[in-house]
Amino acid sequence: MAYAAITGWGKCLPPAVLTNADLATFLDTSDDWIRTRTGMRERRISHVPAIDMAAVASARALACAGLGAQELDLIVYGSCSSDEQVPNSASGVQVRLGAHNAGAMDINTACTSFLYGLSAAGAMVRSGVVRNALVIGVELISPYMDWDNRNVSVLFGDGAAAVVLQSSESELGVLGEHLGCFADARQTLRVRGMGCSYANQGVQYGDTLWDFDGQEIFRRAVKGMAQATEKALARCGIATDQIDLMVPHQANLRIIESVAKYAGVPMDKVFLTVERYGNMSAATVPVALVEALEAGRVKPGATILMPGFGGGLTVCSHVVRWGDRVTPIGHSAAELPPNERTALEMVNAIRAQRVNRSASERGLMAPRFAEAGLLQGLGTGSGA
Ligand code: ACO
Repeated sequence: MAYAAITGWGKCLPPAVLTNADLATFLDTSDDWIRTRTGMRERRISHVPAIDMAAVASARALACAGLGAQELDLIVYGSCSSDEQVPNSASGVQVRLGAHNAGAMDINTACTSFLYGLSAAGAMVRSGVVRNALVIGVELISPYMDWDNRNVSVLFGDGAAAVVLQSSESELGVLGEHLGCFADARQTLRVRGMGCSYANQGVQYGDTLWDFDGQEIFRRAVKGMAQATEKALARCGIATDQIDLMVPHQANLRIIESVAKYAGVPMDKVFLTVERYGNMSAATVPVALVEALEAGRVKPGATILMPGFGGGLTVCSHVVRWGDRVTPIGHSAAELPPNERTALEMVNAIRAQRVNRSASERGLMAPRFAEAGLLQGLGTGSGA
């Protein structure tokens, strides 16, 4: 039987740092509120398109695996903030890498897009459809953030990371996983203004309104990740005390602490990045995985647990067995172009471009193809 070992890893974080103090210059918020409610101190703001970050992270992951771009059979691009819908973004990464032999597909399950991509690519490697795959988690949230809404704008950041999967006869890679979705709660997180429903409605792209029921998402996230973890562990017959490291989605430190408690994993086995990067949606788990490796927290043969949740509300958990190698084979010279502006300058430029009209005037209340009742309130009702 074939397995899909993770043999390469790389990240790309834009250099501009947006601190809690920066946010407090234009929001009624404080460093103390953000730190105590979320665990976040700062996040990154990108000066380049998402594909640029994804391409740098991917080049680094390939060098780490010692694999040539032409040897790739598949590129999976996990994101909910693609630069364009058509053509897809995975094809853009294929061009940048020169990975001419690779199939290329995008996956969007919001924050779980990297982990769902890991499942899709892993299944293809294990079944023999492909031998070598690249799985990317990337997010460029800043251009469509509702910056003047303090309920959401303090929570997110930009970033990218990627891993290489290779067919292996050793029992490595994802050993057990569970994917799920609380679709009855899909209205708890909706970005109005993104998607075809808003075409020809007078909506300027990026001019969004976020529907966000933080407390309901919080409850569902904890329950969903705990249940998914139980099922993923049962599927591969691994006990909680065999987990060496947990690398969870990082939307809120309190959510992570609750999931760790339910799962029975002590916090000293949990790798955290939430303080420095906030929630980078699909990029969060792979960036944390790369940094755990860089910090020496992944030991040869380690068993790693990766629970996640995202808009939808999608949930999942993955149990991964690491191989012997925890250091890169090679390093890529790929870099982002230099950045001249501060994060706050970039955010203020985005805020200045947002149209100062009411939501209904902006066409954000009545998308053309909206399902009945789609935008009527939030919560956990049965509305689609
Ligand atoms: N600064 C200051 N005050 C704020 C801020 C802010 N940035 N945001 C909200 N508040 C206020 C609220 O208005 C409220 O004031 P009120 O009591 O006068 O009404 C008060 O703080 C408390 O608000 P709560 O919503 O009760 O705060 P809570 O402790 O629930 O924390 C939070 C809110 C951080 C959003 C939390 O619910 C959470 O983390 N939820 C999950 C978020 C999440 O998962 N996001 C990702 C979604 S999925 C994905 O990853 C894509």
